[in-house]
Amino acid sequence: MKPASHPQSKKPEVAIIGLGNWGTSLAAALAQARIPLREVVVHRRRRTSPYPTVSWKHAALTARILWLCVPDSAIAGVAQRIVAQRSNLEGQILVHSSGALTIDALAPARRAGAAIASIHPAMSFPTREIVPLVDILFAVETDSPATQRILHAVVRKLGGRPFDIASKDKALYHAAGTLASPLLVSALSAATETARLAGLNRKTATEWVNALARATLNNFFGQGAARSFSGPFARGDSATIHLHLQALQQHPILADLYKSLAVNALKSLPVRNEQALRDVLTEFTASKPVHR
Ligand SMILES: NC(=O)c1ccc[n+]([C@@H]2O[C@H](COP(=O)([O-])OP(=O)(O)OC[C@H]3O[C@@H](n4cnc5c(N)ncnc54)[C@H](OP(=O)(O)O)[C@@H]3O)[C@@H](O)[C@H]2O)c1
Repeated sequence: MKPASHPQSKKPEVAIIGLGNWGTSLAAALAQARIPLREVVVHRRRRTSPYPTVSWKHAALTARILWLCVPDSAIAGVAQRIVAQRSNLEGQILVHSSGALTIDALAPARRAGAAIASIHPAMSFPTREIVPLVDILFAVETDSPATQRILHAVVRKLGGRPFDIASKDKALYHAAGTLASPLLVSALSAATETARLAGLNRKTATEWVNALARATLNNFFGQGAARSFSGPFARGDSATIHLHLQALQQHPILADLYKSLAVNALKSLPVRNEQALRDVLTEFTASKPVHR
């Protein structure tokens, strides 16, 4: 068995554990960056793979960086399994990819001598289609300055931009990412569904939301939140909002979403007639006054 090389080396080799949505893009980016990919450990073999895939039984686990790309719920178990197969991990770095879990999920590997870290790509990998990693932000969490330097260098070599995240902040950090991507999809789905309820056919509803949402995202990132905020809240048009909430009464989930986003708008965006808007929202929020 080839001994694990020292983690200070400038050219770390990597093993990927789990070749799903994120792991597939990582494997492609490693190849592009000419970072050696020693093995890809899978627990269910696919028919063909361009990568050196191995089962757990045949995994060497000797690469300097063991990069876990398994679901969050599997991370602790995989860390235990690595330690069960290789009790001395001195000189190796175990990395997981979760934005929410901390490095504590890798505690067994630390006890076996490994440095531990997490690297979270701020990007959406909804399928196994390869997403390029150039210019993507990566949150790096580790309590070892030497490991931090090595992993920042790896991220840069992949074309990404590393920044550090503290363990105590990870849950909130990942909640922010969830608002920016999957729950943004939920908000856009709700808009499309509401347009469909208003009688637009599927194609028109999708085009209609597309036009509004794209222009709004462009404005938001081009000129900021306040200058991209138009509509009845910005105008303070409480009678119009009353009409919306009346119509949404038949659709309580859509109504709750509308009201939550509206309360946040009142808190953080420039609205006119704030008290009148608050009163309308309170009227439609049974026994729950909308406070400042
Ligand atoms: N997808 C994203 O947008 C994204 C973005 C940032 C970070 N992440 C993080 O990346 C990690 C992976 O997420 P994902 O979306 O790529 O999940 P995924 O598509 O479900 O892929 C997970 C892969 O791990 C494999 N796996 C599960 N248990 C395993 C084990 N014991 N040994 C070997 N392979 C195992 C699965 O194989 P089977 O399918 O055969 O079970 C699957 O191929 C998570 O920590 C997630 O938080 C994901």
